[in-house]
Amino acid sequence: MSLFQDKKIILGVCGGVAAYKSVELLRLLIKAGAQVQVVMTPSAEQFVAPMTFQALSGNPVRSDLFDKAAEAGMGHIELARWADLILIAPVTANTIAKISRGIADNLLTTVCLASAAPLILAPAMNQQMWRSEANQDNIQRFKSRTSIHLIGPAMGEQACGDNGPGRMEEPEPIMRFCEQLLQQLQEQQSLSEQLKGKKLLITAGPTIEDIDPVRYISNRSSGKMGYAIAQAAYEAGAEVSLISGPVVLDAPEGVDCYKIRSALQMHKRVFEQLDNVDIFIATAAVADYRPVATKAQKIKKTQDSMTIELVKNPDILADVSAHNKKLFTVGFAAETTELEKYAQDKLDSKNLDMIAANRVGRDSNGQSMGFNSDTNELILFSKQQSGEITRTVLPKTTKQQLARELIKEIVVQYKNSHKNKD
Ligand code: C5P
Repeated sequence: MSLFQDKKIILGVCGGVAAYKSVELLRLLIKAGAQVQVVMTPSAEQFVAPMTFQALSGNPVRSDLFDKAAEAGMGHIELARWADLILIAPVTANTIAKISRGIADNLLTTVCLASAAPLILAPAMNQQMWRSEANQDNIQRFKSRTSIHLIGPAMGEQACGDNGPGRMEEPEPIMRFCEQLLQQLQEQQSLSEQLKGKKLLITAGPTIEDIDPVRYISNRSSGKMGYAIAQAAYEAGAEVSLISGPVVLDAPEGVDCYKIRSALQMHKRVFEQLDNVDIFIATAAVADYRPVATKAQKIKKTQDSMTIELVKNPDILADVSAHNKKLFTVGFAAETTELEKYAQDKLDSKNLDMIAANRVGRDSNGQSMGFNSDTNELILFSKQQSGEITRTVLPKTTKQQLARELIKEIVVQYKNSHKNKD
């Protein structure tokens, strides 16, 4: 069945020459099985007659926010709630600016502000308008808005005679883009059904082991991966607690975050939070050793050499998996050499269900890998019920995207495992 079947789509049309392409787009949407309501900005009506869209969609076309007759039928808020997806093609620089700043001065921009549905924008404008600082500034603002997706503009000859970026994408690529997004939304929905009521406990960041009041032992972990996993798990519908060492990141929205400093504190906090946890994910770079004793006063440099005696920290992950054998446990292996071998050894020795291996250090261009970088690549080893170990590669991408992929993979493995209580 088509992913568009019975999907409720608002097709927004702004005032630009490319509005003629929206007619074909509407035809394709209807053909694919979507229910479409067309909303035009007042200036769009200068380019294509509403009657064309009405005839193709089978629904009255709306453009006036203050149309009493239309509001008596489906009011603008109902219209905003009705939509599964809003697609604006073409979207002009003017409407981009309004959406970016939350201005709602016509029906289309009001519906955008009042709707929780994902929004796809297919810009069309003169190349200079597209490149202008003001427009680029508005486009930049969309980067942090997860519900807004941009397709295009394409390069090429423009109606005004210029050549450059600003042509609206063609209807077929727009359809494929919408289809991919609908697919993602469907996957997200099924993920959130599977994670509903599930409790995840995640450790993140480094730990700090104090030597004296001013010095400590720690490592380069930024906590970015663990925080991204916590956010992805929450967005996917799980109840999430995060136990974090000192990092400069803000706690993800919706996640219960507990800050600790040392490995011993992290161990204690984890065990306090362990009740009813379904999945434990240890991303923290826990210091392996701590000073036997923390000096109460600053150590003075009176000697030519000095020795600090260290003692091993408890292995939080190994202790958790030994303590509760019904818990689904996921570990991380950050290694500079023999990555896959060490990762599999840890899967075995810590008795885990899954381990995510990532290379740390610097790549051939001197870029930081794993720790402290914004991107990462993971190799996952999962223990199956049969005892077989499967290997999956999650290719290099942003830590946010990687976290989403990892959560999906964890849910698949968790569902297949005997530890799943459903
Ligand atoms: O043994 P290693 O430190 O390389 O293992 C890494 C995995 O074990 C990570 O998942 C890390 O969060 C976890 N770990 C832990 N407590 C420790 C050491 C590591 O939970 N003391």
